[in-house]
Amino acid sequence: MCGIVGYIGYRDAYPIVLKGLKRLEYRGYDSAGIALIDDTKLNVYKKQGKVAALEEFCYGKDVKGHIGIGHTRWATHGEPNDRNAHPHLSNSGKLAIIHNGIIENYAKLKQDLVSKGYVFHSDTDTEVLINFIEDIYTNNAGSTLEEALRIALKRVVGAYCILIVHEDEPEVIYAARKGSPLVIGIGKGEHFLASDATPIIEYTREVVYVNDYEIAIVKPDELILKNLGNERQTPYITKLDMQLGAIEKEGYAHFMLKEIFEQPATIFDCLRGRLDMKDVSITLSGIAAYEQQILAANRIIILACGTSWHAGLVAEYIIEETCRIPVEVEYASEFRYRNPIVKNGDIIIAISQSGETADTIVAIDQAKKNGAIILGVVNAVGSSIARISDAGVYTHSGPEIGVASTKAFTGQLAVLVLAALKLGVDNKTITQERFSYLCYELAAVPDKIKKILEDAPAIKKIAEKYANCQDVLFLGRGYNFPIALEGALKLKEISYIHAEGYPAAEMKHGPIALVDEKLLSVFIATKDPYYEKVISNMQEIKARKGMVLAIVSEGDKYSSNIADDVIIVPETDELIAPLLNVVPLQLLAYYIGVEKGYDVDKPRNLAKSVTVE
Ligand code: G6P
Repeated sequence: MCGIVGYIGYRDAYPIVLKGLKRLEYRGYDSAGIALIDDTKLNVYKKQGKVAALEEFCYGKDVKGHIGIGHTRWATHGEPNDRNAHPHLSNSGKLAIIHNGIIENYAKLKQDLVSKGYVFHSDTDTEVLINFIEDIYTNNAGSTLEEALRIALKRVVGAYCILIVHEDEPEVIYAARKGSPLVIGIGKGEHFLASDATPIIEYTREVVYVNDYEIAIVKPDELILKNLGNERQTPYITKLDMQLGAIEKEGYAHFMLKEIFEQPATIFDCLRGRLDMKDVSITLSGIAAYEQQILAANRIIILACGTSWHAGLVAEYIIEETCRIPVEVEYASEFRYRNPIVKNGDIIIAISQSGETADTIVAIDQAKKNGAIILGVVNAVGSSIARISDAGVYTHSGPEIGVASTKAFTGQLAVLVLAALKLGVDNKTITQERFSYLCYELAAVPDKIKKILEDAPAIKKIAEKYANCQDVLFLGRGYNFPIALEGALKLKEISYIHAEGYPAAEMKHGPIALVDEKLLSVFIATKDPYYEKVISNMQEIKARKGMVLAIVSEGDKYSSNIADDVIIVPETDELIAPLLNVVPLQLLAYYIGVEKGYDVDKPRNLAKSVTVE
């Protein structure tokens, strides 16, 4: 989703802002733009399409200046074109703004501004906001831009992260946030601003995460933070723990492939210091203080979106099995609008890779206000959800750049399995023996994933064979049902092939009508208590001439004879199996997407971090 970059200091702003925009490309966008102040002249360049198109457009133009702001836009108000791209100028031409978020009351504000004679050149809510600020600024004699900004933001409804520059103030960037992330990197005589830390880490490791309802006045040598009540806030400087290599491809063709192959290491990192195989124990210090409250809870609610929601579904099965506590898994976007019943002391687990998903943030905010305890399972350190949560466990998967989530998903699963096992053994709802066995199986996951990855060339061949399918069904039962959903989501995200995930047994209640010789069904048919039943479902498809690809356990005898193709994964317990079984599905989606010539790291229309409702 929209990406924001800013620079102020002694260096040329243009190359820094442009490189920053490239670093943020992974968030998903459809146009890009940049504003620079060259001494006293404000120059704005913007272009539909990729940052490369903007770069080409800027070639030979005046891109001088030590202060600049840049934006990648993911269209909300108005189609993606040059006109709607950010930055937007105020009517005087002196103020330029970039914005991530949505101004909900923009229509009313626009009406008032039009009646005052303001003219609009785009369909965006952002252009309304900058003119609203300008209107306050010019109509209040003696008022500063900072004051005008404060007044405007108090009247704005919605979410925003904004950067504003003023042609007459070439030594300051004004920034503010509510609901959309903003990080400021602290350099010597320079500052870097961005939606996340990726554009910043090559310059400085010291950053400030701006809080909601704060305004930052950023000068080369000074960073002033204030709340909307004009009170100074002390910037809290944190050190980034991120390596530059983590946001570069390091020889892989795509980030998605790199991230799939990183999984043995990321899961190992996630388990490190938490799963101790010497005395077979689990320590999760992040949630230890809440353990008794969790175990005493009548139910647990899991809130998430997208792939993280699928991790929540797996967690539902695992937590109910090991802890015998009822679990409900909800789409955050549904939960927040349906007047849900949340009581004091209810336990809510929020799962999010980015920690910035707007629907999840609002849902947990509401639940928190009703007294719920929020536990976060988050990847992005210091993100909004991590900060709103009362406690939580980081997944430690490292920055995930590919829009389609892979290593963050298995990181979420690893954390959720750890938590479920720890709670289950303490609650005595699983035996010590089963606990030990599952710990052993969990510890073996990184090596078993390595084994699956060795088969990537074979999976690539299978992907090439099925790349022209129009429709694909993903079928699984039990712990593998959410994996079927995730397999389908990966395929549609990356290859634009219509795909659906179903519980294998539900297939005969509708989807079977789709089966013919052109339909591919991907079965997750690894060894578990439902294996025989899944085999029967597979036979039902073959009887109707459908194509079958099966993910099977090592040593499988039956499904290999029925399916057209098989992918073999190491055997493990059914509770751990989702961590392995999703990997070939990630590779399948990846290779099909590549075979079709698509941009697998930045699929059309998708955003990595969905910071609007
Ligand atoms: C977007 C991404 C998905 C992700 C979902 C939830 O749709 O494209 O990959 O699963 O948001 O994001 P979160 O960061 O909260 O896990």
